[in-house]
Amino acid sequence: MRTPVVIGNWKMNGTLAEVDALAQGVLAGLAGLAGVEVGVCPSFVHIARVRDQVGPALGVGAQNLAVQPAAGAYTGEVAGFMLKELGCAYVIVGHSERRSLFGETSVLVAEKVAVALDAGLTPVLCVGETLEERESGATEAVVGEQLDAVLDRCGVAVFSRLIVAYEPVWAIGTGRTASPGQAQAVHAFIRGRVAARDAAVAQSLRIQYGGSVKPDNAVELFSQPDIDGGLIGGASLKAADFLAICGAAAQVGGR
Ligand code: PGA
Repeated sequence: MRTPVVIGNWKMNGTLAEVDALAQGVLAGLAGLAGVEVGVCPSFVHIARVRDQVGPALGVGAQNLAVQPAAGAYTGEVAGFMLKELGCAYVIVGHSERRSLFGETSVLVAEKVAVALDAGLTPVLCVGETLEERESGATEAVVGEQLDAVLDRCGVAVFSRLIVAYEPVWAIGTGRTASPGQAQAVHAFIRGRVAARDAAVAQSLRIQYGGSVKPDNAVELFSQPDIDGGLIGGASLKAADFLAICGAAAQVGGR
């Protein structure tokens, strides 16, 4: 049984007052939700504060981690063991903004997945193609390569301990959502790619959709057979919208 999972990616947003209000707002609406796993990923500097307000009702995660597994002279980096000690459950790895703005390659992303798992965190492994890649018919080649890097580095078994988020780059923050059919096709491709190595692991793998998920499109997206919830950016910054999206996942249920 795959329980849907909805995670808010707050990106680099929020004053202390805004983060407090958002955390309180989400927490207040959680009580009525059953059958959906919910988490939020604030900026590093807000994690402890949010955890103090929402834990353990709500899972807290980070948006990135260092590739170096152990303490050392890595100015500006944050290690997986530090996140774990803070109480993080999740860490987003390989978000398209990290890949495109900060030069993260699939090989580096795969290494970060390994480090996150070793630290006891659940990686949310992001994959997805750009508009140019989609229009040139390269979606499966791009997503396949991103997945294979992790499969080859970490093995298929770890896919029972991570979450994959399919986020078409052209749909992130643009208001342009993949149609439920477009998203489902790639989700089925992802599950198939993992199934080629281990059918049982693929069956249990949770694959979130991300990219302009809103309260009014969430039910249709989450109803697709291979979509197990969402990774939510913009809409996760409004408690009511985020809760409505969590409610949509709860309504659709697991499979
Ligand atoms: P969006 O972002 O919901 O604002 O499109 C999703 C993401 O980047 O995770």
